[in-house]
Amino acid sequence: MEDTSLKSGMLEILLVFSEMDRLQKVSHLIESHYNRHINTTVFHNLLEAIEHLEISKKPYSLIVFEHLSASQSIVRTLVEMGGSSAFILCGRSLDVIRGLKDTEVPIEFVSIDTMFEEIPKVVNRFEVTGKIPMLDEAESDYISIRPDYLPSMGPLEATVYTQLIDGHYVPVFGKGDSVERKQVEEYLQGKKLTHFYFKREDCKELLYQKSQDLKSIIEEKPLDRARAEEAVSASLEMVRDVVGQMGFSPEAQKVAINSVSATIKLMGSKPRLSGILLELKNKDGNYLTAHSLMLGKVACAMAYKIGWTSRTTYFKLTLASFLHDIALNDGKLAVVNSIEKAAGSGEFSADELKEIRLHATKAADYARSMSEVPSDVEHIVLQHHERPDGTGFPRGLPFRLFTPLSALFVIAQDLIDYSQIHKDAEVSLETFFEARETVYSSGIFKKIFQSLRTDSALV
Ligand SMILES: [Fe+2]
Ligand SMILES: [Fe+2]
Repeated sequence: MEDTSLKSGMLEILLVFSEMDRLQKVSHLIESHYNRHINTTVFHNLLEAIEHLEISKKPYSLIVFEHLSASQSIVRTLVEMGGSSAFILCGRSLDVIRGLKDTEVPIEFVSIDTMFEEIPKVVNRFEVTGKIPMLDEAESDYISIRPDYLPSMGPLEATVYTQLIDGHYVPVFGKGDSVERKQVEEYLQGKKLTHFYFKREDCKELLYQKSQDLKSIIEEKPLDRARAEEAVSASLEMVRDVVGQMGFSPEAQKVAINSVSATIKLMGSKPRLSGILLELKNKDGNYLTAHSLMLGKVACAMAYKIGWTSRTTYFKLTLASFLHDIALNDGKLAVVNSIEKAAGSGEFSADELKEIRLHATKAADYARSMSEVPSDVEHIVLQHHERPDGTGFPRGLPFRLFTPLSALFVIAQDLIDYSQIHKDAEVSLETFFEARETVYSSGIFKKIFQSLRTDSALV
């Protein structure tokens, strides 16, 4: 087996707590988050831990420590010695880390009284933002990528690898190569491959290049719409691959944001539903990406129709649609609207059902981790499989608790599903409205639905 060494992604954790009980509970919490054994080093006081870091120079992914006094200097020393670790301080006063908040150090404070509930949330946040390795990251120096979007990447910014049966990775396309669709197909069919690989260390640069590309394509005059649409779609595919394996790093976030800006520019300020409905019938390519792009357009066109025409609204809806199914790996999981029905159908494994159940919450975590993104986006994502009659998931939310944008998003996704189910029939907005009249008959759903129907602005 080749050197898929654990060196860079190995999860090493340092815990410093005065009481054994706390140590064990925190260690258990982190292990159950990762669902496997984690290498943990423990100390009962901070000075010993600092001395250990100084002497051993051992790199830790995460240092969780207790510090109940108000002294800042000992925390500073620990942070200096901890190198590139992420830190969770369990203490009594947030003031202790105030001075560190402006630095690049990933450090979060949790109150000692609520630490057992808070630590898993912080670990999750660190993980989704790439500040500590995700589970799979500890296993390989390569990340897998779906082959569909390689041809639209232009000259490659990094070497693409394939994995041989014995585990070795070998290069298939070099840096600077432009990959033809035919070449990819030959590989997939001839060698029965499903994935290619990038080196993990190349991803930061690749994502940076992607966001630059998007920016320049969209600023070009005249705008090449087909090329821009293809670039947005390829960018989303790459973000999906990277986020699942490395977390939603700042570079991946930038690509998502630039994809949103590009889409809004392509859509214009007056997106119309009628044209989009036609497009819906003819979409192809990766289902999840096509679905996410389409949902953004439909949601914005609906917003426009009812008079919610601000750029901020379009931004929130488009970003939410790009993120909402990002935690899913397979298009067939995205069309499930009821966990009970899916479980009863026998078509899904227990793992797939779990993936479906958790995907909205996970995607909401990604949205929350983005800097300077309004919390509306997180709510839309979290609520996208809820239903007005309370039969949705993950929470079975009643209609009263939907935010207006979430309600609109749910209707938009329903329209897409409806037109997919009735693919061969003539789908007009009117047939959809008739079919769903009783479904959207309460609260904010009723208001939105009525104004969509009557074309009246709902300001
Ligand atoms: Fe979904
Ligand atoms: Fe979806």
